[in-house]
Amino acid sequence: MKKVEKLNKGLSGRITIPADKSISHRAVMLSSIANGFCTIENFSGGADCKSTVELFKQLGVDIFYSDEKTLRIFSNGILHSNTDFECTCGNSGTTMRLVTGILASRFFKSTLTGDESLSLRPMQRIIEPLMLMGADIESTEGHAPLIIHGKGLKGIKYHSDIASAQVKSSVLLAGLRAQGVTTYVEPYISRNHTELMLDYLGADITSDGNSVTVWSSELEAKDITIVGDISSAAFFIVAGLLVSDSDFIIENVGINPTRTGILDIVSRMGASVELLNEHVVSGEPVADIHVQYCENLKACIIEGDDIPRLIDELPIIAVLASQAEGETVVKNAEDLRNKESDRIKCLVSGLSSIGVDIEETEDGFIVRGKTQLEGGVEVESYRDHRLAMSFYVAGLLCKKEIAVRSFEWINISFPEFEKLMYNLICND
Ligand code: S3P
Repeated sequence: MKKVEKLNKGLSGRITIPADKSISHRAVMLSSIANGFCTIENFSGGADCKSTVELFKQLGVDIFYSDEKTLRIFSNGILHSNTDFECTCGNSGTTMRLVTGILASRFFKSTLTGDESLSLRPMQRIIEPLMLMGADIESTEGHAPLIIHGKGLKGIKYHSDIASAQVKSSVLLAGLRAQGVTTYVEPYISRNHTELMLDYLGADITSDGNSVTVWSSELEAKDITIVGDISSAAFFIVAGLLVSDSDFIIENVGINPTRTGILDIVSRMGASVELLNEHVVSGEPVADIHVQYCENLKACIIEGDDIPRLIDELPIIAVLASQAEGETVVKNAEDLRNKESDRIKCLVSGLSSIGVDIEETEDGFIVRGKTQLEGGVEVESYRDHRLAMSFYVAGLLCKKEIAVRSFEWINISFPEFEKLMYNLICND
């Protein structure tokens, strides 16, 4: 349980955001199926990415930590297992969904399990396209454990009805070893880190709007440096906009346009952040972000193609909306119910308990602002890292202290969160 008090001074100074979780997963996966030796720098310290490292180590890939953020990986690109392979993916949906795409074409039997939350998350979304490619996957009514009997696959053209980078990546990774061409079309573009990294490692891949095509390809290992995670930076961006007198810089934040929906919302609400020192690292755009307190925020509508570009930021955006004048409406975000928790229900319950005027809808929520947050309660974060950090930021604005339950789950993506917050609070 974490106690959080109202902050009576601005946040200031400079922090560096740790590595992007999505890119860290992909760096380990793709380097493990590539040929050769590579170094991955600035790797995520989150538990989810450690689940991916552990899984590939168990598959016999040589992976060593040369320090806590640097990995050395050596592979000949061939994954094999003499016995049936069984491994847990912990809490990580990205691990389970992407690795299933990789293992579907490896000629051995694999069983992937997950913790309680992961076992409740829908897997049919990857099973369906992979089975159309010829994969043989057993599940328990579309849920983990997944039992994968490796088979030869064939390319398909698949039209997905959801914009999910995990489904897209699973199909593309299977497509790397399928006969013929694999094309994936999504309704709105979701994060494209898999496509960028596949291109960086030499795969035969092209993207055209919402459609990606991959041909059977061998990957050549190459060093990768991972940029900072905008989904982690989002908590500090919102804290800086809402806590009076804040003025600070967040260094090294990934600004891939498929992830910067949060920055669009900030400007739609009438605030702005400044991007400095823009450059590209291992194929991904990155910048430093200058954040300043903003007194007059206004509500906005968030829907359609906004959603995949800020899906993980919606909980902290709800906190931002509580301090914006008017009605902020989030629509078309029903997939939020399939995250580490039912993020619509759990978010609404937590934020209402501290005084936010928030209403649950089937596919999102409505926040009416601006509200003075009361606090003085214990808030349950349902073992969901992003809810825990969102409630912490809300706590900085509450009249009375709050306590965030199951706060330790922030370790899933962002173990450094509190240390960085203190750096900004204590910088005089
Ligand atoms: C992710 C994709 C998104 C996101 C998740 C990470 C990824 O999930 O919510 O935190 O790394 O591909 P969906 O693909 O289910 O939208």
